[in-house]
Formats: sequence, structure tokens, C-alpha cells
Amino acid sequence: MIENKKESTHPPLKRYRSNSMGNSVAYAGLLLVELILLVIKFIYTTVESIIRTFLPPLEKSLKDEIILITGAGHGIGRELALLFAIQNAIIVCWDLDEKGNNETKQILKIKGYKRVYTYKVDVSNRQEVLDAAALVKQEVGSVSVLVNNAGIMPCRPLFSQSHETIEKIFNVNVLAHFWVNQMQTLNYILD
Ligand SMILES: NC(=O)c1ccc[n+]([C@@H]2O[C@H](COP(=O)([O-])OP(=O)(O)OC[C@H]3O[C@@H](n4cnc5c(N)ncnc54)[C@H](O)[C@@H]3O)[C@@H](O)[C@H]2O)c1
Repeated sequence: MIENKKESTHPPLKRYRSNSMGNSVAYAGLLLVELILLVIKFIYTTVESIIRTFLPPLEKSLKDEIILITGAGHGIGRELALLFAIQNAIIVCWDLDEKGNNETKQILKIKGYKRVYTYKVDVSNRQEVLDAAALVKQEVGSVSVLVNNAGIMPCRPLFSQSHETIEKIFNVNVLAHFWVNQMQTLNYILD
């Protein structure tokens, strides 16, 4: 009985030793392959970056693209309208402030850019957004670039903000993005 026990313990131990040797060789092989791949990737990325430094990718042409800018009647929106007009795009200006929006159109016209369309829209009002979108589609065409720029920034400490202002901030700076993007996505899908 004792002899039998001794014989039975040796073979599994041997198998374990040979298995662990095999595993180590396999791991070493894998590590070597990974190291080689890493070096290849490193060389490829370095060469690619050097080439891209001297040959940057071509910029997308905005010629004849219909670009809708919200809050185009002042500040950054107006500047963007001018920048895109210079690139021969068709500009659609949305703003709550009709006077400011028309000023933007005038500025662009004086500079020789005539393909400018203005609409009085409160982007926080979903129905106004949908109505204006339908009008733009009918009068100008399908918008291909959308710049969600309209926003308000009543800078006051939290406790001196009225609840109406807080709601307005949320409506203009958050919800409006959903209404405008939803409209744009719907138009895109329906096209
Ligand atoms: N100027 C900055 O330093 C700065 C910094 C961070 C973020 N921003 C953001 O960039 C955007 C543009 O900034 P800006 O300085 O040009 O602002 P701005 O106040 O000069 O112009 C914003 C334009 O959005 C319009 N607008 C406001 N509420 C609207 C509404 N409900 N519907 C339609 N139009 C509406 C305004 O009439 C105005 O013409 C804003 O969203 C602002 O919060 C600006």
C-alpha cells in the first residue's frame, strides 16, 4: 500500500514541471512578439508624424455649404459668420435679437458676401426652432454645418440669481442644444 502511494505522487509532479517550463517559453515568446510590434508601431507613428508635420491633411472646403449659426447677431457668432462667408459658404443667421442679426447681415453684405439669410429665433423655444428650420429648408436648403453658439452668461453669485434667470440659463444653454440638434438630425434623416 505504501509503495503504491509513493509511485503515484511522481508522475503528476513531473507533468507540472514540464508544463511550467512550456508556459515560461510561451510567455517569453509572446513578450518578444509584443516588443517587436511595439517597436514597429513606434517607428511607424514617428515617421507618420514627421510626414504630417510637413504635409498636413487638406482642409475641408466650405464652399457652398449651408452653415447655420445660432446667436449670430453678436460676438463670436457674428465673427464666425464672417469667417465662414469668407470661405464662400451660405450663411444662415439665427438670433433672438433681430436688430443684431440684421447688422451681421449688413456687415457681411458690405464686405461683398451676399448669401446671408437671417431669422429671428428663440432657440430655447422648441416650436420656434421647428418652424424656423422648416422655413430655412424651404428658402435656403438643407443645412450641412450647424454651429450651436447662442448662449447667455449672467455672471452673478448663485444666491443673487433669480429663479427665472436660472431657468433661462438652463433653457438657453442646455435645452436649446437639444431642440436645435434634434431638428438638425431629423432634417438630416428625412433628406
Ligand atoms: N465670450 C466669451 O468669453 C465666452 C466664454 C465662454 C463661453 N462663451 C459662450 O460662447 C457663446 C457666444 O458668446 P459671445 O461672447 O459671442 O456672446 P454674446 O452675448 O456676444 O452673443 C450671444 C448671442 O446669442 C444670442 N442669444 C441669446 N439667447 C438666445 C436665444 N434664446 N435664442 C437665440 N439667440 C440667442 C444673443 O442675442 C447674442 O446675439 C455663448 O454661448 C457664450 O456662453 C463665451
